[in-house]
Formats: sequence, structure tokens, C-alpha cells
Amino acid sequence: MESGLDYYSARALLEWQIEMGATEAIGDAPVDRYALPDTTPKPKKAEAASVAPAKPKQVDPVAVAQAAAQGAGSLDQLRIVMEAFDHCELKRGARQLVFADGTPGAKVMIIGEAPGRDEDREGKPFVGRAGQLLDRMLAAIDLDRRENVYITNVLPWRPPQNRDPKPEEIGMMKPFLERHVALAKPEVLVVMGNISCQAVLGKRGITRLRGNWDQAMDLPVIPMFHPAFLLRQPQMKRQAWADLLDLKARLGGGA
Ligand code: URA
Repeated sequence: MESGLDYYSARALLEWQIEMGATEAIGDAPVDRYALPDTTPKPKKAEAASVAPAKPKQVDPVAVAQAAAQGAGSLDQLRIVMEAFDHCELKRGARQLVFADGTPGAKVMIIGEAPGRDEDREGKPFVGRAGQLLDRMLAAIDLDRRENVYITNVLPWRPPQNRDPKPEEIGMMKPFLERHVALAKPEVLVVMGNISCQAVLGKRGITRLRGNWDQAMDLPVIPMFHPAFLLRQPQMKRQAWADLLDLKARLGGGA
């Protein structure tokens, strides 16, 4: 377009504009800058990763439980690491950890399912009605809960409304149970009811399994009916009695 300016005036004007900060020549036609491609430099991949908010790390509760359990060198330490374990939902609904009762080092270690209301209150396994029946069963073969047995559960916290433990709860607490057995050093394990059979032997079907010696955690294991089941089905006490006699025979001279 013809401007009418001579060369020297046009040049002086341009220099003046540059001095004032102009960096771009404006054309005669308007430019829609929103329609232009975005030419802002993008951060490279590595920079982008460092700028993006860090995703929370996924924790494997079983691995945490394994490491904690292996680090426990005594039953007291095991109780402490279990109390500190925060990955099991049941802990939040329970009053306290129910660890064990009886004598560590006894020949017989009894593994129940999980604390109920009474156990949750008292902090000891098998103290409610089922526990009282268990005491009578043991007494029938001359075993005393305080002297001749060591008692724990698959789960140390009471499930809400005494619901069945979930497989993932059993799985994440199993490393603690294994360590518990290794530290208590019993000669035989008694697993009471389906949940304990599942956790220790990886099998269910207590009616078929009961009374048949099996092997787990490097020890002989006898599955038995759970005392709570015997309270509901007293006619099954006959089989429970046979299993108790079998246990007594296995212990030989004494507990
Ligand atoms: N039932 C169990 O299996 N364990 C207890 O401690 C009490 C009831």
C-alpha cells in the first residue's frame, strides 16, 4: 500500500516504534490469534512427570504384614507389631486386639476364628459361652487352659456383628498367625471350625475334615468342630469327644 511517506521518514518512524517496544509488524488484515495453532513450548516428558501430582503409592498389606511379622523376635514383639498394623479394616471397629491366652510353649496350640463380643471386651480369646464349652472339652482330657494349652484366633479383631471374616482379611493376617505359631512352638495345632481350617490348611468342609490329622506350618494339625457350632448342634459332641480322645492319645504321656 502506498503510504505517502518518504524513505527517511518511514525509517525514522519504524525506529521510533522499535524503541517504544514494538516487536511485530502489524499487517493490513486482522489476525484471529485464537484460531492460530498453539506454539507455546510444551514441557518434555520427564519435566511433565515431575510437574504432575504424585499418585499415592499402592501398599500391599500382605507384604507389610509379612515384613512386620518376620521382624518380631518374640511373642511380646509380635503383639506390638500386630497392634501397630493398620491395614485391616476390622481394627477400626474393634475395642482392642485379642492376642492369645494360656501358656506359650504348651504342646497344644488352639486356633479359633475371631473374637466375639466377650473376647473384644476382655481382650482374651474364647472367654464367652463357646470359650466356656472349650474349657470343659479340654478338662475332659485333663487339659487346663491356663497351663496346658496356648490359644489364639485367625483374626485378632472382632468382625462387626460377628460376620464371617473375608478372605482378604484372613490373607493379610495370616503372616502374623504363622509367626505366632513359630514363636509359640507348639507340638500340635488344633484348628476349630471352617475359618481356621481355611486359614491354616487352605481347606473347608469341617464335617469331612474333623478328626483327620493333617500337616501345616511344619506341624501336625487336627481339625475339630468349633465349640460355638457344638452349642448349636449338641448332637455333634459325640464326634468332638472322639477327636479329643485322639488328641489326648497323640499327646501320649502328658501335655
Ligand atoms: N470364637 C472364636 O473362634 N474365637 C474366640 O475367641 C471366641 C469365639
